[in-house]
Amino acid sequence: MAFDIDMIKKVYAQMAERVDKAREVVGKPLTLSEKILYNHLWDGMPTEAFTRGKDYVDFAPDRIACQDATAQMALLQFMQAGKDKVAVPTTVHCDHLIQAKQGAKKDLKRANEVSNEVFDFLGSVSNKYGIGFWAPGAGIIHQVVLENYAFPGGMMIGTDSHTVNAGGLGMVAIGVGGADAVDVMAGMAWELKFPKLIGVRLTGKLSGWTAPKDVILKVAEILTAKGGTGAIVEYFGPGATAMSCTGKGTICNMGAEIGATTSTFGYDESMERYLRATDRADVADAANKVKQHLTADAEVYANPEHYFDQVIEINLSELGPLLNGPFTPDLSTKVGSDMTEKATKNDWPLQVEWSLIGSCTNSSYEDLSRASSIAKQGLEKGLSIKAELGINPGSELVRYTTERDGILQRFEKLGAKIFTNACGPCIGQWARYEDPKNAPKNSIVHSFNRNFAKRADGNPNTHAFVASPELTAAIAFAGRLDFNPLTDTLTNDKGEQVKFDEPTGWELPPDGFEVEENGYVEPLADGSGVVVSVSDTSERLQLLTPFEPIKDSEMQGTKLLIKAFGKCTTDHISMAGPWLRYRGHLDNISNNCLIGAVNAFGKKTNFVKNQLDGEFGGVPDTARAYKAAGVKTVVVGDHNYGEGSSREHAAMEPRHLGVAAVIVKSFARIHETNLKKQGMLGLTFANEADYDLIQEDDTFNFVDIADFAPNKQLTLEVVHADGSKDVIMLNHTYNEAQIEWYRKGSALNLIKEQNA
Ligand code: F3S
Repeated sequence: MAFDIDMIKKVYAQMAERVDKAREVVGKPLTLSEKILYNHLWDGMPTEAFTRGKDYVDFAPDRIACQDATAQMALLQFMQAGKDKVAVPTTVHCDHLIQAKQGAKKDLKRANEVSNEVFDFLGSVSNKYGIGFWAPGAGIIHQVVLENYAFPGGMMIGTDSHTVNAGGLGMVAIGVGGADAVDVMAGMAWELKFPKLIGVRLTGKLSGWTAPKDVILKVAEILTAKGGTGAIVEYFGPGATAMSCTGKGTICNMGAEIGATTSTFGYDESMERYLRATDRADVADAANKVKQHLTADAEVYANPEHYFDQVIEINLSELGPLLNGPFTPDLSTKVGSDMTEKATKNDWPLQVEWSLIGSCTNSSYEDLSRASSIAKQGLEKGLSIKAELGINPGSELVRYTTERDGILQRFEKLGAKIFTNACGPCIGQWARYEDPKNAPKNSIVHSFNRNFAKRADGNPNTHAFVASPELTAAIAFAGRLDFNPLTDTLTNDKGEQVKFDEPTGWELPPDGFEVEENGYVEPLADGSGVVVSVSDTSERLQLLTPFEPIKDSEMQGTKLLIKAFGKCTTDHISMAGPWLRYRGHLDNISNNCLIGAVNAFGKKTNFVKNQLDGEFGGVPDTARAYKAAGVKTVVVGDHNYGEGSSREHAAMEPRHLGVAAVIVKSFARIHETNLKKQGMLGLTFANEADYDLIQEDDTFNFVDIADFAPNKQLTLEVVHADGSKDVIMLNHTYNEAQIEWYRKGSALNLIKEQNA
């Protein structure tokens, strides 16, 4: 079973009544985004209108998808919940841990050797708890989700930022941290700040060299990398309906690059065609019956400025191919002379060394067929490629079908490398260099989404530009960044000047999709007998032991671990890079705990005082020394502590190392919630200036922790080294349930107790 038609029918069955009720409480016509949000309220029928950008609302998502890097800690935590099965349909996709080097076959074999224990673990946990498992090589999570699970009007969360890709099939699909996914897997609600809404009206029609990719590259230019923050971007208009479903997926995918909560499109014929082509005629039939609820009310798109917080209009007929980059996805340049000028001025290398086509953003059948039409022309016109060319098909379904249709062979004839159906260079899993840190300055062009420094190949000097797959293919022939395929000619093997015709392709395979072995493993109906084994000596995986509740007595005599100075994001708290390897091993990854935070005393990173012996050392080692001595510690921080990602490791690591409380001027809300979930105290100074009172040798007594209660400040006695004391007040946002999490040691401990 790939998808759950009964679940989808249930979502549709309740939609009419809930949407009508939502329209009544909101008091005006509804956007598509609102219809989906109000149809997925945890409490069922809408009873009140929520304020966009302000109210926190509990939702009930229909599905969860996890990729192999983030699934490890998510599933390790879920195993703590004491459940037999996931409460909501869930899938795990092995796509991030496969390095691109020699080509699909060899690379996949190597990944299966190197990451065997991780894949085995994910496979057996999936089998045990009723989770669909997509094995290494099956495809990239978001392409596989679009082909199998996404459905118009649905709500989904996924432990990857580009989960938003499913908006191409009319979903509200949102990237979350592992802790959120675990809550939903365990049958709890999922909380989200009710998003603001940005409407993008697309007029005109894409043609020639302009692709859906150019639409989102243009939107990124207009809104910038932060412009979509806290908002759902809803696309509509004639240009939207004229576009393929996978093209819509591309646009939604890169909504992550403008910081949007997600993006979506109303249900239309392109989605119906895609559903039918991917063997889901029953979903299309069901969707057709509730069509009017799967798009906004007519009045909304007629007068969008009354219903959206911001409206943008783009005329697709006037849009041309763009290249965005380097180092940021919102820096747009038109192909041709604009690029010559900008590159020369900024010293960007004009010679292109690699063209890469694929990633979850652009690896559909349509993408590969349009790019291959350029490859075919190149072969016929006697051209050869000047840049190396690499292709990552999005899924085995796409790979098999494009091979059957002779599409992949065109690239191969040019000498391209066909990599595994996986993320590969898109996530830095690309063995391009022996020593990437010292590799030379160069330019590459790719059809991926992210292009910040080091993302693809680890080389800080690689200038990566994002473009459509067809332009990426054309640039491979030219070997130049400023090649304009609309006007420029290239010299062929006979010395003649030749020019590309416009790319052509198929939205969907004319002979239908086909696959022999799609890589999906259906879980057992009863997985109770499956034993999940993790070796004690594993470096990468470690079963979790429940956190012990923190006793009130332990909250007296706690010591300062670090007073973080200035910005302290989740990256400062739990760094990425090489540490990603240990994502499934809490003790090992805890060796990166707060190593990026600047100590307010001495302004160095990873250099703090151990009050027990007066010695200075790294944060993790010092924390371990306190832990060994049975002394709980406190982290103090500045404003917006824990901003960045929803990475749960940033809360789990301090908790594991014995930190009992984090006291800051202000929190990034997701991190604050993550601290609560792990059963520790996340507190704020009632008086911000009290931050300045904290000294390096301070001891803290939480004198009234026994009376910890909602809406009641906590009192902290700060004892300085000279014996003097300050008494300061601390605020908190814990409700009754969250105080229970603290009292039980973690939210998962409480769930487990309730399931016992
Ligand atoms: Fe992420 Fe893989 Fe896409 S790395 S951006 S899911 S290709």
